[in-house]
Amino acid sequence: MHLETGRLLMPPLSGQHTEALAEVYADPETARYIGGPSLHAEGTADQVVRFEAVWREHGLGQSALLDRGTGAFLGRAGLHPWPEWDEVELGCVLARHAQGRGLAGEAARAWLDVASTQLGLDRLTAVIHPDNAPSRALATRLRFRVHREDVTPSGVRVLVHERFAP
Ligand SMILES: CC(C)(COP(=O)(O)OP(=O)(O)OC[C@H]1O[C@@H](n2cnc3c(N)ncnc32)[C@H](O)[C@@H]1OP(=O)(O)O)[C@@H](O)C(=O)NCCC(=O)NCCS
Repeated sequence: MHLETGRLLMPPLSGQHTEALAEVYADPETARYIGGPSLHAEGTADQVVRFEAVWREHGLGQSALLDRGTGAFLGRAGLHPWPEWDEVELGCVLARHAQGRGLAGEAARAWLDVASTQLGLDRLTAVIHPDNAPSRALATRLRFRVHREDVTPSGVRVLVHERFAP
């Protein structure tokens, strides 16, 4: 599934993006609420393998976010199933230099559209650390609302937001 927006090309995230994604995660501020130091090069490679498996098994997943003009890798965005909770999450990570330009919102809206019109997903979640203010602001702009406090299987306290398709 190759999504596109006005400023982004969004091919499925795959092994060819591992190195660029690891560079994005190497910024401690960017990785702070999404795994921090565990996302070293090896951790990133493991994560990309899991994302590739999600694409194969579910026909949905994470897109690489590429600058439409230059092809530069800017981050990732897309859907991720949480089987423990029987929910599908919309998530987004941008390199620091790409933040504050509305690109995460642009990528997220492309996925929201696909989720409701092509995948029949009427409800999505956003699983966010309570202190992650930029992510909570993005979720609010996208009309997600706090649904519950919860703890992830790896023991992280989170606010699970939810959004119903219009
Ligand atoms: C969460 C994250 C993706 C949000 O990125 P972001 O750049 O703040 O979000 P957007 O791309 O929607 O940009 C919105 C900002 O761009 C500004 N902006 C500039 N041009 C814009 C445009 N054309 N359209 C919309 N917004 C624009 C907005 O005013 C807003 O700025 P503000 O937050 O100062 O009000 C980013 O902070 C991130 O990658 N964090 C680290 C990883 C992470 O924690 N991810 C979330 C996991 S739960």
